[in-house]
Amino acid sequence: SFDEVPGRYKVRDLSLAEAGRHQIRLAEHEMPGLMALRAEFGASQPLAGARIAGSLHMTVQTAVLIETLVALGAQVRWASCNIFSTQDEAAAAIVVGPHGTPEDPQGVPVFAWKGESLEEYWDCTEQILLWPGEQGANLILDDGGDATMLVHLGLQYERLGTVPPDTLPGEPDHTHEMNVVRSVLRRALAADPLRWTGISEQLLGVTEETTTGVHRLYQLAESGELLFPAINVNDSVTKSKFDNKYGIRHSLPDGINRATDVLMGGKVAFVAGYGDVGKGAAEAFRGQGARVIVSEVDPICALQAAMDGYQVARIEDVLGEADFFITTTGNKDVVTAEHMTAMKNKAIVGNIGHFDNEIDMAGLAQVPGITRTEIKPQVHEWTFPAAGDEEPRSIIVLSEGRLLNLGNATGHPSFVMSNSFSNQVIGQIELFEDSKLPEGERTYERQVYRLPKVLDEKVARLHLDALGVRLTELSTSQADYLGIPVEGPYKPEHYRY
Ligand code: NAI
Repeated sequence: SFDEVPGRYKVRDLSLAEAGRHQIRLAEHEMPGLMALRAEFGASQPLAGARIAGSLHMTVQTAVLIETLVALGAQVRWASCNIFSTQDEAAAAIVVGPHGTPEDPQGVPVFAWKGESLEEYWDCTEQILLWPGEQGANLILDDGGDATMLVHLGLQYERLGTVPPDTLPGEPDHTHEMNVVRSVLRRALAADPLRWTGISEQLLGVTEETTTGVHRLYQLAESGELLFPAINVNDSVTKSKFDNKYGIRHSLPDGINRATDVLMGGKVAFVAGYGDVGKGAAEAFRGQGARVIVSEVDPICALQAAMDGYQVARIEDVLGEADFFITTTGNKDVVTAEHMTAMKNKAIVGNIGHFDNEIDMAGLAQVPGITRTEIKPQVHEWTFPAAGDEEPRSIIVLSEGRLLNLGNATGHPSFVMSNSFSNQVIGQIELFEDSKLPEGERTYERQVYRLPKVLDEKVARLHLDALGVRLTELSTSQADYLGIPVEGPYKPEHYRY
């Protein structure tokens, strides 16, 4: 059952709002960057007139982001970017708003609940882009690029006058999910043959949260298909070097513990990928006393992993050895059905990269004789047929191969998300302010941009006091010696941190 007013909101249960509000209140204390932006920009309302369609995990931390955007003058509509990641109490609190009641909700339209079907997921994504009484959203705040992709596909299909059955560039390569997207687009075309034309003409830009979504944006920009300017939030240093690493270091073990409560100490953990997320994942396992094995395709990251003291191996060589298999690559087909068939009995398999195609769940379901037992929601035991008179072996798969830190737990903690989301808010202001300038004077074209380093440093600064950090100040002569301004930026663009 749902609490729903069509076109206005659809969440699990508005009576959860009070529980959500308590959590939001505590999260605000842990999100000094967002609260400082409210204090700085609350009076000047830089987002007045912005209609932001947000597609990002509907958690407590995201609730603080949404209410920051509103405090800066924006109108907002929200959906989650994953079928399992919504915290229903946060969604309820946002719909009810700080001053409403479940009987008289006064907050922001949210279309999200934990455990959506794919059909429901794409319906919700469409809902955030449709603005009742107006032509549509004028900004997207995206995580993984699904809202951006829906607009691009919608427009392509509209121009063709039909929804073609074959795959177009930028489509997810999961056939079932693409068929779901097609049915949403088919219905939209029937309702309004110029819907996506209208929406895309309104759109001033997108700010993108994660590695996978950024990757999609660069592909669209390179092929000349990107419809509006994009800010790559992920590659702010205060995003990917913090959220992707320290966020994962916290939320990966959280997800594994809540799902299984299996001890990590003394066990063997295999981590596929040693980028920012992989580094956080490996460190988390090591911190729990596990022996960690990493796999990489990039020689630089493989060497880093080795120098950090991890064994670097190929997955096929450690199938019988590892107790945990975690994918962090943002790539597809990293753990195949064949791999899973050969894993140790009761191995725990999970993905913490953005999409579920890292682990071949469809292939696993097709292993002859395999059975699936639900231990609890988002925790499934897959049992292989016994060979001879052996005990049947099984593996435990978390969140059906989707982001386990958000499916089995509640994602990253507030403090780290305050860094990421401060970049999001600054990115939204940048795009919106720039769009008000005369055409020839604008900074942002149909390309992908990073925020200037001085803003990145500002986000970090906003989080220092809360941790009791006392920064050293450069003297003028030291600054002159290094050839940098006293007030920063302190590093050249090519510096890697
Ligand atoms: P990254 O690009 O820094 O790291 C990915 C690494 O995987 C790269 O070093 C790459 O060489 C390696 N890789 C690629 N294919 C491989 C293969 N077949 N086997 C082994 N290694 C392989 O990206 P980042 O920032 O670490 O993000 C990874 C994924 O995690 C992305 O999908 C991103 O969107 C997602 N993400 C998830 C978060 C969460 O809360 N669950 C938070 C942040 C990012």
